[in-house]
Amino acid sequence: MTNEGKVTVLLSGRGSNLKALIQQQRGYRIHHVITDKADAGGLTIAREANISTTVVRREEFPSLATFKAGILSAVEATNPHLVALAGFMVVVPQEFVARFHGKLINIHPSLLPHFPGLNTHARAIEAQHQEHGCTVHFVDTGVDTGPFIAQARVPLLADDTPETLAARVITREHTLYPWIVRNIIEGAIRLDERTVRYAPHIIAEARTLGYTTFE
Ligand code: GAR
Repeated sequence: MTNEGKVTVLLSGRGSNLKALIQQQRGYRIHHVITDKADAGGLTIAREANISTTVVRREEFPSLATFKAGILSAVEATNPHLVALAGFMVVVPQEFVARFHGKLINIHPSLLPHFPGLNTHARAIEAQHQEHGCTVHFVDTGVDTGPFIAQARVPLLADDTPETLAARVITREHTLYPWIVRNIIEGAIRLDERTVRYAPHIIAEARTLGYTTFE
């Protein structure tokens, strides 16, 4: 079987991005879901969509390093064309990044490099930013770092709470991520060393869709 278009998703939580990726599956196939949390909501979403799953629990390993090696083995066993982190709360090690160079992406709920890590919406409000949003990037060994692919921006309103802002951002995540996954699988977006390359039509399409690119 060809591995063209096979996407393995890694997640730790509720899985709304997984759901969006499944619902908008065109040009790619969500082939397998891996989680470190046996009670992740995303696991139920995967099972209901008849997608095979693997649970790799920290408790099953004697150390953090062997746990992370276990995650890498589980991903390798799925032979993916692309690995998409969707709320996966484990920092992946150097071997993982090197093994999947140009094939490992993450979505994060802020306009990186602002607010890597947790509680991004509260921090954007606290910092009185005028806009906020989400970023999809190729993954390197940092926390929420690596070459940016595209961002979707939302206004930050005077009466926003972290919850209202999160709701506005996640809606954009749900269209941005499938669009990027499809275009990487189709070869229209790729990583060249540390530079993101876009096919010309992607720049125009991103503009129409209201996404920022980094050419
Ligand atoms: C999403 O907002 C995603 O951007 C974020 O976790 C959430 C997962 O939600 N990722 C990170 O914070 C990565 N640092 P979901 O499980 O409903 O897709």
